[in-house]
Formats: sequence, C-alpha cells, structure tokens
Amino acid sequence: MSAQAQPLEVRFECLGLADLDDVMRIERLSYGHPWSRGAFEDSIAAGYQMQRLLAGNALLGYFVAMLGVDEVHLLNITVAPSHRQRGWAKLMLEALGLWSRGQGAKSLLLEVRVSNSRAILVYEAHGFARIGRRKSYYASGHGQREDAWVMRLAL
Ligand SMILES: CC(C)(COP(=O)(O)OP(=O)(O)OC[C@H]1O[C@@H](n2cnc3c(N)ncnc32)[C@H](O)[C@@H]1OP(=O)(O)O)[C@@H](O)C(=O)NCCC(=O)NCCS
Repeated sequence: MSAQAQPLEVRFECLGLADLDDVMRIERLSYGHPWSRGAFEDSIAAGYQMQRLLAGNALLGYFVAMLGVDEVHLLNITVAPSHRQRGWAKLMLEALGLWSRGQGAKSLLLEVRVSNSRAILVYEAHGFARIGRRKSYYASGHGQREDAWVMRLAL
C-alpha cells in the first residue's frame, strides 16, 4: 500500500443562506473584524457571485465577488484554518478569474489590510499587483484604523 495521500475531490457550489452558520464559524476564526451575518445576507440578496468550496461535506473555503462594468471586485476570500496552505485559495482565485473573464471583465480588484502579509503573498504569487493604498480603510480595534492595499490582476 502506498502511503501517498490521495488527491482530494473538491467541488464548487453556490453559497446560500443555509450555509451561513458554517461560514460565520470560519469568519470568526479567520478575522479580528469578521463580516457580519447581515453582510453575507445582503450579498446574497444583491446577487453577488458567491461560491463555496467543498470536499464531501467539509467547507474548505468561500469567496464573494461583485461584478462591475469592466472589472470584478473580490470582497471576501477565506479558507478554513485547518485547510490552509494546500492551494485552495489559489484554486478559488483561478475559478473566479475564469468566471470573471466569461463575464467580460478585464481585471480583478481587491483590498487587503497592509498587515495581512500571508494574503498579500498569495495574491502576488497569483499575479496581483499593488496599484494603490487606501488610507484608514479598515477598523483595527481600539478606535484605530488600518490602511488597505488595492491590488489588481489583469485578466
Ligand atoms: C489568505 C488565505 C485565503 C490563503 O489561503 P490558502 O488556501 O492558505 O492559500 P493557498 O494554499 O492557495 O496559497 C498558496 C500557497 O499554498 C501552496 N500550495 C499550493 N498547492 C499546495 C499543495 N497541494 N500542498 C501544499 N501547499 C500547496 C503554494 O505553494 C502557496 O504557498 P506559499 O505561498 O507559502 O509558497 C488564507 O490564509 C485565509 O483564509 N486567511 C484568513 C482570511 C484572509 O486573510 N483572507 C484574505 C482577506 S483580503
């Protein structure tokens, strides 16, 4: 018997209201300032592109993106803590890029906290470039604010 791990079979499904208990659990584990349940509910109501990545019944991660005129804005991408550094964010970015191109978008845009070096590395490895810095874009506790990098990927 080989000790090699079998490749995991994964699939994307639309993220809906029934998934929000699981999503909120991952949000709270992942961020100092997680999205509220209401933010996800509003995104579903607005018809944003929201996908969850599953292996069997396990939720590996999810993303939320908004289609603009020539661009798609990535609003949230999160991988469950126990499933990180296995390429799942990369897979979600590839899937989002394909969908975005299919919608006629020319670029993918996102904001990321300047302190989120892990996410910045993942985005840069995927081809995103920093195109600007938004001052005091995020709340960061104790009434403080934190800047965001604006990053762009040409599709
Ligand atoms: C940022 C975040 C989404 C990245 O998710 P992730 O799934 O860990 O990222 P990936 O695994 O796709 O990143 C690619 C990395 O995995 C590695 N990788 C790819 N395939 C792999 C595999 N089969 N086995 C092991 N590692 C692999 C890549 O080499 C790369 O590693 P490196 O950057 O250390 O060299 C995740 O850390 C997260 O959810 N963080 C909290 C929420 C957050 O900050 N979101 C972004 C807000 S803007």
